[in-house]
Amino acid sequence: MTPAPPNPRTCCATNDKVSQAAWQQRYIEGAIGWDRGKPSPQLHKWLADEAIEPCRILIPGCGRGHEVIALAEREFSVTGIDFADSAITYLRREQRLRKLQFDIIQTDLFAYQPSEPFDAVYEQTCLCAIDPSQWETYEQLLCCWTKPGATLLASFMQSDASEGPPFSCDLKSMRQLFPASRWHWHDTIDRVEHPTGMHELACRLTRNSG
Ligand SMILES: C[S@@+](CC[C@H](N)C(=O)[O-])C[C@H]1O[C@@H](n2cnc3c(N)ncnc32)[C@H](O)[C@@H]1O
Repeated sequence: MTPAPPNPRTCCATNDKVSQAAWQQRYIEGAIGWDRGKPSPQLHKWLADEAIEPCRILIPGCGRGHEVIALAEREFSVTGIDFADSAITYLRREQRLRKLQFDIIQTDLFAYQPSEPFDAVYEQTCLCAIDPSQWETYEQLLCCWTKPGATLLASFMQSDASEGPPFSCDLKSMRQLFPASRWHWHDTIDRVEHPTGMHELACRLTRNSG
C-alpha cells in the first residue's frame, strides 16, 4: 500500500553535515569525489539491457546532472532535483549549451511534491547523502512520487565508514528499507566501481501495485 505523504515538519535534518550549506560548500571546494564527470557506466548498462525505456523519470539529488543529460538525450522526460546552488548552476549551463529539454528544480527533496507521479526514479548516491534518520521518510516519498509499477534504478553506495556522508547503504538495510510488501527486487545486482575507491551496488526495483 502507498504510505501517506510524510509530514514535512518531521523531515528536517538536524545533522549539519547533510545540510544544504554543507553540500554547497563541498561543490565550492571541489570536494566532489562522487562526481564521475560523466554518466555512470551502470546507466549505460541499464539502457543497453532495456531495463528502462523513455518515460517520465525523476533524479533526486542529481548533483551536476550527468545522468539527467544522458537520459534527456535519449528522449526521456527528465526532472532533476538538488538543493546545492553550484550543482544547479552547472546543470543549467550545460542545458543551455546542449539545447536540451528537461526540468531542473532547486529544492530540498523533502519539500518536493510533483504535480503528477513519475514512471521511474533514478537514485544514484542520493540516499547515502541523507542522514539515516530520514531514510524511511525518503522511501515513503519515493512511493508517493511514483506510479504503481514504477521502476526504481538505485545505485546504493557501499562504505566501510561508520559515519557519513556517504552513509553506507548495505544490502541488508536496503532490503529492510525497501520491503517486499512495497517493492519487487529484480534478481541482478551489479557492483559498480566508484572514483572514490568505494563501490555501489546497482539494484532494479519495481513498485508494487496498490
Ligand atoms: C553524493 S551527491 C550525488 C550526486 C549525483 N547523484 C551523482 O551521483 O553524481 C548527493 C547530492 O544530493 C544532494 N542532496 C543531498 N541532500 C539533499 C536534499 N535533502 N535535497 C536535495 N538535494 C540533496 C547534494 O546537494 C548532492 O548534489
